[in-house]
Amino acid sequence: MRQTVRVFPTAADVAKEGAKILITIAREKPNAAIALSGGSTPKAMYEALRGFSHEDANALRAAQYFFGDERSVDNYHRDSNVALAVNEFAKALKIPYRQIEAPDGAAVNLDEEAARLTHRLYERVADNDAGIPAFDLVFLGMGTDGHTASLFPQTAALASSTVGFVANEVHQMNTWRLTLTYPVINSARKVVILCTGENKADVLKKIFSGTGGEYPITKIKGADVEWLLDAAAAAELPTGIGAR
Ligand code: 6PG
Repeated sequence: MRQTVRVFPTAADVAKEGAKILITIAREKPNAAIALSGGSTPKAMYEALRGFSHEDANALRAAQYFFGDERSVDNYHRDSNVALAVNEFAKALKIPYRQIEAPDGAAVNLDEEAARLTHRLYERVADNDAGIPAFDLVFLGMGTDGHTASLFPQTAALASSTVGFVANEVHQMNTWRLTLTYPVINSARKVVILCTGENKADVLKKIFSGTGGEYPITKIKGADVEWLLDAAAAAELPTGIGAR
């Protein structure tokens, strides 16, 4: 496992770097398998992607997109991770909808939807030597409680051995989420964690000073994990952590 921490002056710089990494991988590998993250942070990256060249847009149109997680809402809801990506990125770049595997967070049976997504994962994403579908790139965010995707503290998905998606009850939010599990995320060729804002500084300090306990994001152990932080989120990192 290789983990690097890079610090940028602003959230916009983080977004641009995330976009550059996505473009690079999409240009290197047609039909690259990408998992997009949720929350609000990706919006700035989607905006950066809209500004790229025609060639880059062609490369992005050749990739296929999954989502690391989705809330229990339909794909048109303002809280939907799919809606954000479609409205801020896919439509503008004319990504064919057949190349977007959209979780249906409003499914009547989320366990069945998780199983459907897992089936599609095996159909569309090539396995690694261990027989696990290996994304070329997984984007993640981090909550102020150290969750990532919808792997929240004290929830069942943390211990899931399922290779794919699960429905996860997030009791602290009184909701259910669909989420990728650790076995798939940790099989990705590259994981990029986009983390910005001063509200993330305290958790990052605890994680990188070893006092973070069992924050779910500390279990992200893939081959190549790259944290992209802005100065505000990195403000309390221990000395020596984070290349500027
Ligand atoms: C979600 C996410 C979640 C998110 C973090 C950070 O659906 O909420 O996938 O893991 O990435 O909560 O969210 P922000 O980008 O809004 O800080």
